[in-house]
Amino acid sequence: MPSRGGDPGAPREWRREGYAISTDPERLDLDAIHGYLAASYWATGIPRAVLARALDHSLNFGIYQLPAAGGPGAWVQAGFGRVITDYTTFGYLADVFVLEPHRGRGLSKWLMACIDEHPHLKGFRRWVLLTRDAHGLYRQFGYTAVAKPDRYMERHAPDVYRRGDPPR
Ligand SMILES: CC(C)(COP(=O)(O)OP(=O)(O)OC[C@H]1O[C@@H](n2cnc3c(N)ncnc32)[C@H](O)[C@@H]1OP(=O)(O)O)[C@@H](O)C(=O)NCCC(=O)NCCS
Repeated sequence: MPSRGGDPGAPREWRREGYAISTDPERLDLDAIHGYLAASYWATGIPRAVLARALDHSLNFGIYQLPAAGGPGAWVQAGFGRVITDYTTFGYLADVFVLEPHRGRGLSKWLMACIDEHPHLKGFRRWVLLTRDAHGLYRQFGYTAVAKPDRYMERHAPDVYRRGDPPR
């Protein structure tokens, strides 16, 4: 059966002046991503091994600064976001950030556009995300406040990384 749903497909890449967005897991700089997320307001203290396992089971979108035109050098992690999904009906967008030196250049909007373009992330019945103050970003891509909050439930353990439970 031709596969569209059910898997992430081959790694994809988008380019623009000085930057790339890639879903290639080999490109992820786990130290840089962990450095940001472990200090973030939403995943404070997340252990590196837990993050690594989470990324293993996500479709990861790395944002990278490219080396100066034509020059040598590594791609530098400039931002990140990941989609947790069945590739068919539902997507949860998580852990979106752009590192400070790269902010204000439209990179997060480009990330959202790349996610929208990804052929294995289409036709979902529902996308969900949580944000403290970036509603204006996501509104530009069709997200709204929850229409019927009385239907939403959650089981939240904000102190899970402070309890020191060992990662499986
Ligand atoms: C939010 C964040 C990802 C934006 O990244 P960025 O690449 O600098 O943003 P962009 O240049 O693509 O512009 C973002 C757009 O969303 C809007 N926006 C709304 N809320 C925003 C917020 N809290 N922070 C930044 N932009 C915001 C901006 O005005 C801009 O829209 P405009 O160009 O139409 O004016 C970045 O500031 C960040 O990493 N913040 C800390 C982590 C965080 O809060 N992540 C989101 C968790 S859900």
